[in-house]
Amino acid sequence: MKKSMANKFYITTPIYYVNASPHIGHSYTNIAADTLARYNRKMLGENNVWFLTGTDEHGQKIAKAAGEAKLSNHEFVDKVVVQFKELWGKLEISNDDFIRTTENRHIKTVQKALQIVYDKGDIYEGKYEGWYCTPCETFWPQTQITDKLCSDCKRQLEKISETNFFFRLSKYQDWLINYIKDTNIAGRINYIQPATRRNEVLGFLENNKLEDLCISRPKERLNWGIDLPFSSKHVTYVWFDALINYISAVGEFNAQNIYCSKWWDKDVMVAHLVGKDILRHHAIYWPIMLEALGIRQPDTIFAHGWWMINEDKMSKSRGNVVNPVEMADKFGIDVYRYFLLRDVPFGLDGNFSEDAIIKRFNGDLANDLGNLVYRTLTMVEKYYSGVIPELDIYQVKFDASGELLKQRLKDLQKAVYEEIGINNDFSLALEKIWEVIGIANKYVEETKPWNLIKDGKAEELKAFMRLLVDAIRKISDEIAPFMPKTAESISQQLGQKEIIKGNPLFPRIETKKK
Ligand code: ME8
Repeated sequence: MKKSMANKFYITTPIYYVNASPHIGHSYTNIAADTLARYNRKMLGENNVWFLTGTDEHGQKIAKAAGEAKLSNHEFVDKVVVQFKELWGKLEISNDDFIRTTENRHIKTVQKALQIVYDKGDIYEGKYEGWYCTPCETFWPQTQITDKLCSDCKRQLEKISETNFFFRLSKYQDWLINYIKDTNIAGRINYIQPATRRNEVLGFLENNKLEDLCISRPKERLNWGIDLPFSSKHVTYVWFDALINYISAVGEFNAQNIYCSKWWDKDVMVAHLVGKDILRHHAIYWPIMLEALGIRQPDTIFAHGWWMINEDKMSKSRGNVVNPVEMADKFGIDVYRYFLLRDVPFGLDGNFSEDAIIKRFNGDLANDLGNLVYRTLTMVEKYYSGVIPELDIYQVKFDASGELLKQRLKDLQKAVYEEIGINNDFSLALEKIWEVIGIANKYVEETKPWNLIKDGKAEELKAFMRLLVDAIRKISDEIAPFMPKTAESISQQLGQKEIIKGNPLFPRIETKKK
């Protein structure tokens, strides 16, 4: 991601509902965010990146799940949150912080934010009569529904009537339309990404009148939430509560009601990664909340696509989830990470299957990367007793395929930057790296080092060998944000002067022939 002036990077994921165990969809967003965090740490320095994830622990869904588990709300969320934390640990997710909406630091900031917006007159009391979707915790205006079904999840809506508090979204509609348009100028960082999602949001805003958002729930219906500071009868609507996590985790309002944070400052590139299911909340409610609070906008909100199972979205409510722990155990953590980031362009939907993982494994990982590393180390061992030949490849003139490899290595960092740093395209970034892996493997096949030995071409062999070692070092450096353990293993095997060869990185998975 690029922003002129920014020398710091703050990246967030959604905070996930703790009503059930995490699945592949959740792990996808965190792996993508982790890759961006690692990439930016490499580019900007360790201390200039902050990576936040966490859990969304209030609301009706959670209270219902706690009831079903016969636990108190607090006991229930404390139990499920462990599964998320363990999963992130297992998948090498390098988050700097983990926020839970039941923490004091969060509750305090939500209440303060509510009070500021209320005092400003942007929250008012009113009566709500209309349609409500409990699983989505969303009110639906009559104009946006058909057959009394939720426009998102297609389940039956409930008719409700109650006194509530409303946030004046409508007042900010024109401001938001203009803001989105103004911040989507070619060559500048785009506010809502990818472009299809930005158009979707703009289309919605230009063709519908925004209704004010109901931001409270009567305690008699739901008591599992943050108390409204200006009403003893209501708790905060879970989305108004949850979105605040992005600021409650990294800063505070001061006595003058100014929000202060090192990670939400002018010199920080602020990026939210979310799934397209929660685009409306992040691209409409959140920008307006920030504007009402007098806080600067994030630089970008990227909504990625969905992992599907047989053309149906993977989700806990549909009961078709795949457990990420099982996948990581079966194929390896880096293989799992690689597959998710490589198989589908970021932003589009993808179909999840074990066969597709095996295909990537045997092709890209075993045949291409694994083979290149293993054959190179084997040759260093065989021809140089494990000692890496000393030589500067930029002082050597190679044959055509050697020169091509040398040039592509030189350009690799920039090529990767163009894809991941600017376009958020993990898949294309990996493709660029794999092109170089392909060129390196071809170089070995064309050079036939055993012939160099036979012909007594010691200098050529040495240059050939060193070029391959440099290639692997460079490739390993570029894949590190995507596959941290693999990169670490490669650099351990390729010690400074001498190699320490291990087993092949990705031994092929044999599949039964049909
Ligand atoms: O919406 N494919 O939490 P949630 C890809 N608490 N990503 C998926 C996915 C799938 N099939 N299923 C889920 C909430 N995700 C709120 C968020 S943020 C202030 C509050 C990922 O547990 C994706 O990132 O339902 C999606 O946006 C998120 O999980 C929804 O998680």
